[in-house]
Amino acid sequence: MDKIAFFDTKPYDKIYFDALKEQYGIEIEYFESKLSPRTAVMAKGTRAVCAFVNDDIGKETISALKENGIDMIAMRCAGYNNVDLSAADGVISVARVPEYSTHAIAEHALALLLTLVRKTHKAYIRTRDSNFSLNGFVGFDLHGKTLGVIGTGKIGATFIEIGRGLGMNVIAYDPFPSLGYLEYVPLEELFARSDVISLHCPLTSSTYHIINDYSINQMKDKVIILNTSRGALIDTEALINGIKSGKIGGAGLDVYEEESEFFYEDLSESILKDDVLSRLIMMPNVLITSHQAFLTREALECIAHTTLGNLRSFFDGEPLVNEIKKRK
Ligand code: NAI
Repeated sequence: MDKIAFFDTKPYDKIYFDALKEQYGIEIEYFESKLSPRTAVMAKGTRAVCAFVNDDIGKETISALKENGIDMIAMRCAGYNNVDLSAADGVISVARVPEYSTHAIAEHALALLLTLVRKTHKAYIRTRDSNFSLNGFVGFDLHGKTLGVIGTGKIGATFIEIGRGLGMNVIAYDPFPSLGYLEYVPLEELFARSDVISLHCPLTSSTYHIINDYSINQMKDKVIILNTSRGALIDTEALINGIKSGKIGGAGLDVYEEESEFFYEDLSESILKDDVLSRLIMMPNVLITSHQAFLTREALECIAHTTLGNLRSFFDGEPLVNEIKKRK
């Protein structure tokens, strides 16, 4: 059987990959460590590795993988901003899962939004303590409000449907408009008109810190910002300043720009070493989840199928339909 090394393994990964590995004829050696220049050697004896969003797949890791005989990186995620594609070009194949469940991510964005607006996270804690007071729980109707979506690809389009279902007026910005029925507006106009802004664009040099001091200044007072894409789309210091000044009414964040050291780990017994993250967590109108938008049964099953399918094609020497960079 063809063998792979699987990095940053969590119990839920094993359930879905173990259920399908024999069907694809692939043996998996699981490692809890993240893939990095130091851990790449653990893959020796295999020809491919499976990696995830917070693995360090820079130049050094890629050359360490090559030195140990690895020819393929199978990303079990859609985003690949953590892979140095220039270093991979012509050296190692990189494939990904371009789509698994757009609903998983869009519905998580909805969960963040409804929780922030109706404060159900606080109500849950209050009623468990037999405190049935409603003070401080006044929310607002989403119906009739304006939702601004940045990035109208697969996930953005699904979130737009959800927003329309709620009776929101949806506007969007995307340099490549694709939804004929939708009102696309320049970014500045989206900032000025939206009551809720949701980020669904990839992290690139042009979207890095797309939410910053300047853009926040252009926004409506009490705007709600949702980020289920990538942390570095938001300048976190600017976000904190916007929340402190009262300009931003709430932030629902599934991602954080410095998340790789913290997210997915149980650090409940230690002191959090990131002051910025600590400040965000303490803010009453900020809701942080640990990059979990993808975590549904449907999405995990689809991720396992596509990733193992990508690996099977690689081992069989077939064209890699989900390849990001070709190995020459
Ligand atoms: P997609 O590729 O279908 O859509 C991305 C859209 O962003 C495209 O329409 C593209 O034209 C647009 N775009 C590109 N540059 C832009 C810019 N400068 N400003 C505005 N829009 C721009 O991607 P998909 O599948 O919808 O995923 C979106 C993002 O969601 C991914 O890049 C990934 O970072 C994130 N994601 C997060 C997950 C989570 O668990 N939190 C899981 C899966 C994806």
